[in-house]
Amino acid sequence: MKELTLQTKVTACAVEEMNPSMRELVEKAKAMTQKAYCPYSHFHVGAAARLADGQIITGSNQENAAYPSGLCAERTTLFAANANYPQTRVEALAIACYTNGHFTKDAASPCGACRQVMLETEHRFGKPMQVVLYGEDMCYIFDSAADLLPMNFVAENLLG
Ligand code: THU
Repeated sequence: MKELTLQTKVTACAVEEMNPSMRELVEKAKAMTQKAYCPYSHFHVGAAARLADGQIITGSNQENAAYPSGLCAERTTLFAANANYPQTRVEALAIACYTNGHFTKDAASPCGACRQVMLETEHRFGKPMQVVLYGEDMCYIFDSAADLLPMNFVAENLLG
């Protein structure tokens, strides 16, 4: 028996330190928080995905009176991107959260289901997808969705 340690690489930075294209993506995610439909949680989440051809697809969380029928901003955005541009790789995804009248100081970390969908998106195009989490105090950049979901389940696992 031996104990293994799983490590994740992440870059912590201020939004001002990002390159212009990443900063633009973060600004789009921030703007999208204002379009969230979140009458139950009042927690506004915005996301923006940059495709390999430069297009930016955006989304926000969409809640429902039947709570489990709602969907997070990350999946709304990635499903829209993949549904409309199935051949075009998603290079990067930015996420921002807004509640109680301000953007969250800490970057909110995506839920497990969204991480699984991010991983599938990355996997289907065979290249890493960057994930950028915006926080007023600190942002986090993951160079691959897999870094957010170690020991993950992908298509190959179905082969046994
Ligand atoms: N939510 C997201 O959109 N993304 C996340 O990563 C976490 C949570 C949404 C779901 C729900 O509408 C609200 O935030 C509160 O959980």
